[in-house]
Amino acid sequence: MADGSSETKSSNQMWGGRFASGPDAIMEEINASIGFDKKLYAQDIRGSIAHATMLAHQGIISVEDKDKIVHGLDTILSEIESGVFEFSRRLEDIHMNVEARLAALIGPAAGRLHTARSRNDQVALDFRLWVKEELQRTERALTALIGAFLDRAEEHADTVMPGFTHLQTAQPVTFGHHCMAYVEMFGRDRSRVRHAIEHMDESPIGAAALAGTGFPIDRHMTAKALGFREPTRNSIDTVSDRDFALEFLSIASIAATHLSRLAEEIVIWSTPQFGFIRLSDAFSTGSSIMPQKKNPDAAELVRAKTGRINGSLIALLTVMKGLPLAYSKDMQEDKEQVFDAAESLELALAAMTGMVRDMTVRADRMKAAAGSGYSTATDLADWLVREAGLPFRDAHHVTGRAVALAEQKGCDLADLSLADLRAINPAITDKVFDVLTVEASVASRTSFGGTAPAEVRKQIAWWRARN
Ligand code: ARG
Repeated sequence: MADGSSETKSSNQMWGGRFASGPDAIMEEINASIGFDKKLYAQDIRGSIAHATMLAHQGIISVEDKDKIVHGLDTILSEIESGVFEFSRRLEDIHMNVEARLAALIGPAAGRLHTARSRNDQVALDFRLWVKEELQRTERALTALIGAFLDRAEEHADTVMPGFTHLQTAQPVTFGHHCMAYVEMFGRDRSRVRHAIEHMDESPIGAAALAGTGFPIDRHMTAKALGFREPTRNSIDTVSDRDFALEFLSIASIAATHLSRLAEEIVIWSTPQFGFIRLSDAFSTGSSIMPQKKNPDAAELVRAKTGRINGSLIALLTVMKGLPLAYSKDMQEDKEQVFDAAESLELALAAMTGMVRDMTVRADRMKAAAGSGYSTATDLADWLVREAGLPFRDAHHVTGRAVALAEQKGCDLADLSLADLRAINPAITDKVFDVLTVEASVASRTSFGGTAPAEVRKQIAWWRARN
């Protein structure tokens, strides 16, 4: 059976009892999800094995039938994994494709598998298992990215660069400190992932269509067998709920937003004008016409993937909004959004980890830029407060005049003569020149979480113990 077109229009073998004829071709096309939910085959089979095992344990089906079912499901798993399984669109989705094949393999015993369950709790289970595994993959990918940043931060705890606000030079910082800002961001993403795993760690199977079942099932047993903490507590909510998918997509959107900010910085830093970093050949491309060019395509694509991931979140939120309880077929539209976002996020995280690990940091260029743009003006103002007893507002004004003078002379603050500075405020002494270098500036910022190399090393150690 290929994709249904050559098959006769008989009614559906799974639910067609009350139907005289099969669906219109368009109906079949809009209804089928097998094209994308075949991705859930391993979860579907695992879930069915746990369900059948529980049914036999509870005396609801015989042990012989359970053994046949489990053996048949194992065969189907290897058929799918070796690529010989023929998926049929007429059988709509992964659940019915697997069940129909099971009937062909083991005969009537296959029909007992669907006792005390429905596709509504079955799909909720399969999809939850898949999203949980994806969250675990995301957690590992974030750990790898954080690890890459910790290494670069350690290497560059003393490397001075300009810190920016409004993308205007603000105060000197260290590149290590800047790297650690991303460690904080991706660390928060990772803790959101961990919380989401906790939230969703409940087994849906046994909620049946929506009302539960009269069969004496043991939902705690299936929950345990499938690695969930416990079963869900309300059968109506269980088959209506896609919060776990929305939570994954919102976490993915926030992480993608972080990645896009980093991607943008990489794009800016790698321009010849900034020249703060050089991307490795492995993570850049050339131009087909301009031989001199090295383009940050990977960073640009990471920046763009954010649009897709955010789009998936909005799409699923919109699908779910206003849906009455319990299951509606609208919910079948949940999977493609999640699959696409997951693939994009995995790729973006891997590409970013590679770029961060590989890039060459041009400390000389960073240092030169750090000293320009009067970046130590705040240090001068702080010195006037500390050493000359000026109120900060007055110190700010005096410093402003010094900056204006330096600008007029076309030099840096540190190049003004003592006489020039004393003409602005006589309390200034030659000691002031100690704070006008970028190194002195960063070394002085020892407040908790500040940019001083010693402080950054403490932040690195804190994260190393948690990564
Ligand atoms: N393919 C369906 C989905 O993804 C499975 C559940 C179908 N349930 C139903 N009552 N028609 O949502």
